[in-house]
Amino acid sequence: MAVAEKQPVTITGAGPLSGVLSGLLTWIDQRFPLVSSWQEHLAGYYAPKNFNFWYYFGSLALLVLVMQIVTGIFLTMFYKPDAAQAFASVEYIMRDVWGGWIIRYMHSTGASAFFICVYLHMFRGLLYGSYRKPRELIWIVGMLIFLCLMAEAFFGYLLPWGQMSYWGAQVIVNLFDAIPLIGPTLAVWIRGDYVVSDATLNRFFAFHVIAIPLVLLGLVAAHILALHEVGSNNPDGVEIKDKKDAAGRPLDGIPFHPYYTVKDTLGAAVFLSVFSICIFFLPEMGGYFLEYNNFIPADPLRTPAHIAPLWYFTPYYSILRATTETFMWVLGAGVIGMVALIVLSVGNNLVRLAAVATGAALLVGFYVLDPKVWGVVLMGVAVLIFVPLPWLDQSPVKSIRYKGPIFRSALAVFVTAFVVLGYLGTQPVTDTGTLISQVCTALYFLFFLVMPWYSAMDKCKPVPERVTW
Ligand code: HEM
Repeated sequence: MAVAEKQPVTITGAGPLSGVLSGLLTWIDQRFPLVSSWQEHLAGYYAPKNFNFWYYFGSLALLVLVMQIVTGIFLTMFYKPDAAQAFASVEYIMRDVWGGWIIRYMHSTGASAFFICVYLHMFRGLLYGSYRKPRELIWIVGMLIFLCLMAEAFFGYLLPWGQMSYWGAQVIVNLFDAIPLIGPTLAVWIRGDYVVSDATLNRFFAFHVIAIPLVLLGLVAAHILALHEVGSNNPDGVEIKDKKDAAGRPLDGIPFHPYYTVKDTLGAAVFLSVFSICIFFLPEMGGYFLEYNNFIPADPLRTPAHIAPLWYFTPYYSILRATTETFMWVLGAGVIGMVALIVLSVGNNLVRLAAVATGAALLVGFYVLDPKVWGVVLMGVAVLIFVPLPWLDQSPVKSIRYKGPIFRSALAVFVTAFVVLGYLGTQPVTDTGTLISQVCTALYFLFFLVMPWYSAMDKCKPVPERVTW
């Protein structure tokens, strides 16, 4: 019945083929929501007309995701997930498989490009308050994507079975050892052995090639569906749905297709040019995209002098290394300060009580448990602390354009701390480096923890009724 109810699709401008194409599309549309999906998500999706540079990175992340999946499929055709053959199979791909080197470099450079796009995409969210109501769920799904991406990169890095693959995995899995009671058993369970071995390689391969990509694809679909439900934010943080014309179209909106498909194609062209330069001339990027030690086969009997993860994990790695015995005193002082702030400024007695109880539990925990455990906890919290951002930001405005000097300075300090932590994480440990990373770790957490207070007291500018451009 539904087949007869749908309007026929008419294609014009294709010459003698117009009739055939129209017939084919009508046939499909009567059996699949083709025209309505195109309408809802592209030609009829109204996006704000003032998107800027920062709005390229969502579509670029999508492009890199597709590229990683396609190059990954080709790599899998020649790669051997076997501790005795993995390293040699990658060398075989690089030297003997026709076009293998470019596929491998696209995939390894693609991993770094993915994180560059996603970090800039998240930074755009921070700049324009894209996480605020009604986009909390887009943000939370984005954070789940980010966690999956980290897992995907971690599992993938073991596969070439080089020294850094091996020892990097060894260090990270050993962190689970620090968890009280269940830690050692958990670490063995993750590895499938007492050390990183063939069993570990096999399971990491399974996660890297199928489990995580499947979840990632599902989450990205949910991310975009959630975005299209509420509509995009923009650099002014003005809701374009509030001002519509007589036909119900947002006055400050333009159809995503063709306006933003063209804009994003330009972004993709520029991105691919820079990406090609990296692949052809700088595939290792001075050890930042591919570490030099990873060109040496994994040797369980020889630990490299300096073990560091790739650049995209180093901010968190620095936080882990910054958590020393002395730093526990700073954490203790921080907890007491936070509890005092909550008790003095929050009226609700239940919240006050919860703050005091949590603070006391943390102080006991700091005293009882090894700083190594807290390093792992801090590293995890450093990632997860982005999740409650929609509720931590109490500013009356969304965009940085209208936020006051306190929020602007806090964001600048946070970004600087993040970059410094990232750099220090690539370097061997020194006393000065540890001190700087401790200061940066404190600033990193303060940005989030004190946000409800400083964002509420900031002097914001008035937001215009309509977007500016
Ligand atoms: C595979 C990774 C990701 C892909 C492919 C992706 C894709 C996209 C796309 C295509 C858009 C719409 C275009 C744009 O606004 O740029 C978007 C919007 C958005 N994304 Fe992502 N995203 C990813 C990861 C993340 C992460 C990690 C976060 C944050 C935790 C995030 C938060 C957001 C937010 C808040 C918006 C709405 C922005 C606005 O309307 O201003 N995304 N994403």
